[in-house]
Amino acid sequence: MNYLIGIDIGTSSTKTVLFDENYNVVSSASQEYPLYQPQNGWAEQKPEDWYNAVMDTLKRVIKESGVPGESILGIGLSGQMHGLVMLDENNEVIRPAIIWCDQRTAKECEEITERVGAKRLIEITANPALTGFTASKILWVRNNEPENYARCRHILLPKDYIRFMLTGEFATEVSDASGMQLLDIPNRCWSDEVLEKLEIDKSMLGKVYESPEVTGHITQKVAEETGLSVKTIVVGGAGDNAAAAVGTGIVRDGRAFTTIGTSGVVYAHSSRITIDPKGRVHTFCCAVPGCWHVMGVTQGAGLSLKWFRDNFCQDYIDEAKRQGVDPYYLMDKDAESVPIGSNKLVFLPYLMGERTPHLDPDCRGVFFGLSAIHTKKDMIRAVMEGVSYSLKNCSDILKEMGIAVGEMMACGGGGTSKLWRQMLADLYGCEVKMVSSKEGPALGAAILAGVGAGLFDSVEQACDRVIKVDKVCGPIDENSRKYEKFYEIYNSLYGDLKAEFAKLAKLS
Ligand code: XUL
Repeated sequence: MNYLIGIDIGTSSTKTVLFDENYNVVSSASQEYPLYQPQNGWAEQKPEDWYNAVMDTLKRVIKESGVPGESILGIGLSGQMHGLVMLDENNEVIRPAIIWCDQRTAKECEEITERVGAKRLIEITANPALTGFTASKILWVRNNEPENYARCRHILLPKDYIRFMLTGEFATEVSDASGMQLLDIPNRCWSDEVLEKLEIDKSMLGKVYESPEVTGHITQKVAEETGLSVKTIVVGGAGDNAAAAVGTGIVRDGRAFTTIGTSGVVYAHSSRITIDPKGRVHTFCCAVPGCWHVMGVTQGAGLSLKWFRDNFCQDYIDEAKRQGVDPYYLMDKDAESVPIGSNKLVFLPYLMGERTPHLDPDCRGVFFGLSAIHTKKDMIRAVMEGVSYSLKNCSDILKEMGIAVGEMMACGGGGTSKLWRQMLADLYGCEVKMVSSKEGPALGAAILAGVGAGLFDSVEQACDRVIKVDKVCGPIDENSRKYEKFYEIYNSLYGDLKAEFAKLAKLS
């Protein structure tokens, strides 16, 4: 029997899953690490924490399974997108990685637009300059920490740093590289024009592959430490969203998914390149060679509920420990007992600013309509509804762009909540389905490894064989009508508060 491994370097944890060649889970392990927020709106992580988590989980899955390293054909990497890892001439990490949800780079976005030109930037990178993307983070380091920039020899994305540590290769692949704002998205290669205009040295960037291509092999050192073989290949893999698409079978036109992880994403596959002229949703290369995807991003999806849990739900955490269940399970049950609209409480999930549809790094979270009748469970439901309204904003824009979605899958931690899936079905007005595997991006990455190892002819063929649809949640008309009124209020709140958000951001 042959085996494949998928590694997903997420924002809250790394998850490593060992599959057999029929994609049954043989063993799986995850490890959490901290998120550092040195200032309001900043977000950093330590690449060393990701590496330790990857090595630790790799050792655990291999040891637990008893599978010999020689039968592990390949590894696929997936991970949080956009994060900036800088290495010096000795390949040492220079500073903590500035990650996707960091919002410090508004000035650098203006600089990028000025240097490249707004129209040309969208023509080449398919997106306007965004604080979340890597290019503005690179410029921020150059403008604010020139000594660090001067030492920088290699620029890598989170999962590509792990690739370097596992294989010794400096490489990336088209789906994740799309989020750097340095890639020519229509032509799937680095853009010399953007790099020259931003004065970024191309030699600092890795070689660009398609997602299922082989990028290297496991080094002797890593093989000895983990039990892998030096013959084990590492394929390009994909950014977490493009990998989740493969892991849920979204590899053909008309198919889409919503993920509720730390961020929330509404993602649609597209065999031709489609760009939102207003830049509210991203167009990126996807993991299927020669295809693209369009996605809207909610910055604080699972992040909002986790924030609420960590700061206000110690009682749920204690009770969950007593019952041996997950605190989210208890929170979910209580939220279900609250009526639609959370007893007239609306939450704006802008804890880390917002991308779709506002592209505003300065907006912040709001509970609107708080009354003395409200209790914690109303607030939990309001958080879940607020995130769902934001995801509905994303799906509305895809519709407006003429991207027909015949099928919506749900994934990510939040996607496992029946209540959250029902909210999405009611708001979207379409069926929301789940696949039988819960592994999402890790499964997608392992499927890409299977294609790279020659087990399948194409990503599409692999998905047809591996992905099975499981639970289906249909919209309930009466619920949809109730949500509509709250969604209207949700939508007007941002406009009403926009100027105040900007004023608040300027206060010292
Ligand atoms: C996508 C994005 C997030 C991260 C973290 O553009 O920023 O989805 O990939 O998961």
